[in-house]
Amino acid sequence: MPGTCGSDVKWYASLGGLVIDSSELALDDEGLSLKNELLRLAQRMPKAELHLHIEGTLEPEMAFRLAKRNGVRLHYADVDSLRAAYAFNNLQEFLDVYYTGMSVLLKEEDFYDLTWAYLQRVHQDNVVHVEIFFDSQGHLERGIPLNVQIGGIRRALKDGKQQLGISSKLILSFLRHLSEEHAFETLDLAEPFLDQLDGFGLDSSEMGHPPGKFARVFARCKDLGFRITAHAGEEGPADYVSQALDLLQVDRIDHGNHSLDDAALVQRLTTEGKTLTVCPLSNLKLCVVKAMDQHPLLSMLKRGLKATVNSDDPAYFGGYVNDNYRALIEHLPVTREDLYQLAQNSFDGAWVSEEEKAKHLHDLNRVFG
Ligand code: ADE
Ligand code: ZN
Repeated sequence: MPGTCGSDVKWYASLGGLVIDSSELALDDEGLSLKNELLRLAQRMPKAELHLHIEGTLEPEMAFRLAKRNGVRLHYADVDSLRAAYAFNNLQEFLDVYYTGMSVLLKEEDFYDLTWAYLQRVHQDNVVHVEIFFDSQGHLERGIPLNVQIGGIRRALKDGKQQLGISSKLILSFLRHLSEEHAFETLDLAEPFLDQLDGFGLDSSEMGHPPGKFARVFARCKDLGFRITAHAGEEGPADYVSQALDLLQVDRIDHGNHSLDDAALVQRLTTEGKTLTVCPLSNLKLCVVKAMDQHPLLSMLKRGLKATVNSDDPAYFGGYVNDNYRALIEHLPVTREDLYQLAQNSFDGAWVSEEEKAKHLHDLNRVFG
């Protein structure tokens, strides 16, 4: 069955421009011009992206280019038929396509090209800091060693800093559908590269794979001095978010939508000032929300949660970070204050020094006058 959520939604990435399409929105001239003003502000403001899977930036065009370069056969006739397959009913349907897509990434230069293309793209969105996940186990299982993966990504991140002024962190994310033993083996393999990593994460199929399954792995990561983040409450229940806090001692929560089902948990997340890396277009495409006008982002902010806006897997979900802002502005009563708060939260939740945060806030304040 084709994807039922967001399939009728525009492919934001292809829209470009800074003007809202009024044809489907019941807005008078004043409403429209306010939204366009907010859109321009969202575009101009400096921001950090804290939830981005580098493998999820593999655009169909690049997939075909790398497939040709590496002699890999893709099971789609062309770019259009590959993109047409991006209709999902849930997280697992997406992951099946996503893991298959990775088959074109074989060499250091493939990881470089992928990362460099992402950095160039988000430079246009005024992203000034990125924290990137990579799914090392998805590549190790295909025989691609860590030095190839990390070497290519890191080289592009270095160029990103030098040529585009984008600072970055790199997060090795464990695949939760695999075993605890597999995660420990991966951590052992990562030992020679620990100085090139900034943190550890947890992603992939959430249901049936609670955070507690990896408590001992993350305890080791913490002992090694690393920051921790985990996908929780995307499809899974609020209890998985509590487990991530209690059993993994996470510094951030990725997604966290289902936290809203538990008032005490919301209170705890606000009191502890935990950042949630929310991904609106991802939520729509994976049926976490039925429609963008039902997205809980603004209600998260109203409850005092430190929500941020991110793109997750932009090549698969129809847009990069500013496309996510655009979708929110189009469909929700977003204000100028909300935009400021979201950008501020993105810097506040970043794993950078207080000096760097202050510099970003200074630049943000200049845009907001
Ligand atoms: N891997 C890539 N994107 C993901 C998502 N949205 N949730 C869980 N695992 C992922
Ligand atoms: Zn994610």
